[in-house]
Amino acid sequence: MATKIPSSFIDAVLARTDIVELVGGRVPLRKAGRDYKACCPFHEERTPSFTVSADKQFYHCFGCGAHGSAIGFLMAYERLGFVEAVTELAHRAGLEMPQDGRPAAPAGPDLRPVLTAAAQYYQDALRQPVAEQARNYLKGRGITGAVAKAYQLGYAPPGWNGLLSALAKDFEPAVLERAGLIIARDGATGFYDRFRDRVMFPISDARGRVIGFGGRVLDQGEPKYMNSPETALFHKGRELYGLPQALAAIDKAGQVVVVEGYMDVLALSQFGVAHVVATLGTATTREHLDRLFRYAPEIVFCFDGDRAGRAAAWRALEQALTVLRDGRQASFLFLPEGEDPDTLVRAEGAAGFQARLQTATELPEFFFESLCARVDISRMDGRARLVELAKPLLSKLAKGALYELMIGRLAELSALKVPQAAVLAPARAEEAASRPEPPAPVRGGSLVRQAVALLLQYPALIQEVEELPPPGRPGTDVLTTLVALLRATPGLTTGAIVERFADSPHQATLARLAAWEYPSLLPDHEGVMRDIMKTLNEQARAAQAKARHKFLINKGNLTPEEQAEMVAYLRRRTTEPQ
Ligand code: UTP
Ligand code: MN
Repeated sequence: MATKIPSSFIDAVLARTDIVELVGGRVPLRKAGRDYKACCPFHEERTPSFTVSADKQFYHCFGCGAHGSAIGFLMAYERLGFVEAVTELAHRAGLEMPQDGRPAAPAGPDLRPVLTAAAQYYQDALRQPVAEQARNYLKGRGITGAVAKAYQLGYAPPGWNGLLSALAKDFEPAVLERAGLIIARDGATGFYDRFRDRVMFPISDARGRVIGFGGRVLDQGEPKYMNSPETALFHKGRELYGLPQALAAIDKAGQVVVVEGYMDVLALSQFGVAHVVATLGTATTREHLDRLFRYAPEIVFCFDGDRAGRAAAWRALEQALTVLRDGRQASFLFLPEGEDPDTLVRAEGAAGFQARLQTATELPEFFFESLCARVDISRMDGRARLVELAKPLLSKLAKGALYELMIGRLAELSALKVPQAAVLAPARAEEAASRPEPPAPVRGGSLVRQAVALLLQYPALIQEVEELPPPGRPGTDVLTTLVALLRATPGLTTGAIVERFADSPHQATLARLAAWEYPSLLPDHEGVMRDIMKTLNEQARAAQAKARHKFLINKGNLTPEEQAEMVAYLRRRTTEPQ
């Protein structure tokens, strides 16, 4: 989430906000020790696992994994964007938003008026004689007038400057260019229309304001679809076609269907399957999912049943793992070869399509089906490989019932007899490993994580940090950045630190570590911190310890014979040249 709000202003807003008060105004909180508890507002539960910490200015749900600062809470609870949430909190705190932090006002002119004017121009053009072929095309594809109107379909006439000259009296060419509507001529001066002789699909934001266009040729020409380029307002990896038209239906259904094509959205909506949106010819991104889960707890992806479709579905699954938590659900509907939602709903009707939606494969099933197809689970090493493949993926999942369910399924598939959580959650294994006895088997990466977690949760521990470990180990860069921040800005709370990293690739990791339970179990944080920093500097031990860690992770989760087999396997793997 790109923002121009200076981080010092965000610090100030958070410093004047009390997360307990903010949350308490929306969720009934009960004091429990130093923290406050409630039934989680983000998933269904009967015993409270939602915790708000006044010290850390951070909330965390042990049930579904939701967590964040006051800003994060407001975003999730009120469905606000980042800037909106900061604005709201600044207002509560009596602070003026800084001028350069104006929401949605990136450098350059406001592009909305010109986009709205262009959409109107295209829509009008569709009614002109020049558009006869386009109207016939849409008719031929079964598009009714009502749907054309609801989606503001239009037509870009064939000339080189129809739009350019129509809008010339109200807009500078430079503005049209920035909006992606016209293109500068190579070498010479002057511009020409980007979209010519195409059916136009305006793409709008959630509030129904046009931000870009897709245009389809009427014949076999190439490219079949052309989209607006990336502009200040239009980002393909974030937007969803048909969102404003679908919102009410999504709310009602508690579900959103994601398809691949503009025409699929039109056809489904025309047949009454209205809770549907499309990505814009790009892979599904985390941002898409983040947005969609704000509107509904359940997403059904429709993909082609072919190889490409399955690959696209797998990419969507990988993204989904990072945003799934209890109460959120994703499933995958694979369509028969050669069909898409448009052709299917026209052939089978809404009821037929709804029936297909019912049969969508739930994410855990698709997950294990796909992984099992890549290994031979009848073999010991195949099952070990399955665990290895699943591990990094499942570690993206928030801890909760879904996580436990998937771990359980993995344990079954890999025929591991004992409850398996420890095999898959390095964090938990590390947690066990760092209790006072037995003597801790350590792992470099994990110590960096512990150091980061401790610093995040108890920023005053910066006092204990003298020397930093040499770079190169995973996570050292985060630790270094964090140490620099805490040295430069004393007094930040956990929530404020996490917000400082809002735009950084480390954001998710930090948020997870901030909510990590382990350090709060330790009585002597200062001592632990010192020890960790000391150990971190013993480079030589790390490599050896890593192998030992692997050994220990697997040990204790197997029957004696399986254990022997697995140990032999792991020994082979760790000594074998890679
Ligand atoms: P499809 O080729 O599956 O389109 O592309 P479709 O919606 O079924 O198109 P029709 O039925 O032939 O009209 C799916 C989506 O991929 C993007 C568009 O967003 C399209 O809706 N796409 C496709 C492009 O951006 N460019 C292309 O050339 C083709
Ligand atoms: Mn199609």
